[in-house]
Amino acid sequence: EGGVELTNPGQLTWCTSLPYEPFEFQQGDQVVGFEVDLVALIAERLNATPTVVVTAFEGIQSGTDLTVGTCDLAAAGMTITPTREENFDFSEPFFDATQALLVRADSGITTAEQLAGRNVGVQNGTTGADYAAANIPGANLVTFEDLGLLTTAIQTGQVDAVIQDNGPLLSFATQNPEFAVTTEFDTGEQYGMGVRTGNTALLDVVNEVLATSRTDGTYDAAYEKWFGT
Ligand code: ARG
Repeated sequence: EGGVELTNPGQLTWCTSLPYEPFEFQQGDQVVGFEVDLVALIAERLNATPTVVVTAFEGIQSGTDLTVGTCDLAAAGMTITPTREENFDFSEPFFDATQALLVRADSGITTAEQLAGRNVGVQNGTTGADYAAANIPGANLVTFEDLGLLTTAIQTGQVDAVIQDNGPLLSFATQNPEFAVTTEFDTGEQYGMGVRTGNTALLDVVNEVLATSRTDGTYDAAYEKWFGT
């Protein structure tokens, strides 16, 4: 594929952080999800096999995984931010998201003010952690490495609330009706995929595939598959 150099020839090696249902999560021994399907389209366009490397979100969002060559592409429900753009290059946005509040459905908690004095779980290195630190001053923030540990913490009562992106929290609440997303904070985020700074050959292919997926129906089909009722 014209000018695209892959770290492992014939493979599109990509980093993600699990679990992040419905974007990427484990099903049996497979990693599946909406973003996984988009990465598969990019690999197909490169005549390459997608090879997933599961890492901590911190190494993805900081750019370290890309810089040291752990992967050529980072795709982890990752919000495009100015700080991250200093450390690696983002694709065009492919998904809109916002921070949201997950609580026990019977908790009566619907506002940030009600979180004062409570334990609120966030994921290390995320926009949700930044949002909570800046906007929920009275809360006791507890940081976890991944969303699975966060949802376990609210199930065991270690935290009273979780702040994370709306997509994964709504998915969790749908599967666990004793929990509910009671507020979305309207942070206006957009997800992008990351490549090493200056890897325009790969970035061009990523952007072309994402754009084509919008016009040929594959994006909508994948959306329906992972977000449809
Ligand atoms: N969108 C948020 C961010 O970019 C959260 C992403 C978390 N992703 C994950 N795979 N756990 O900070």
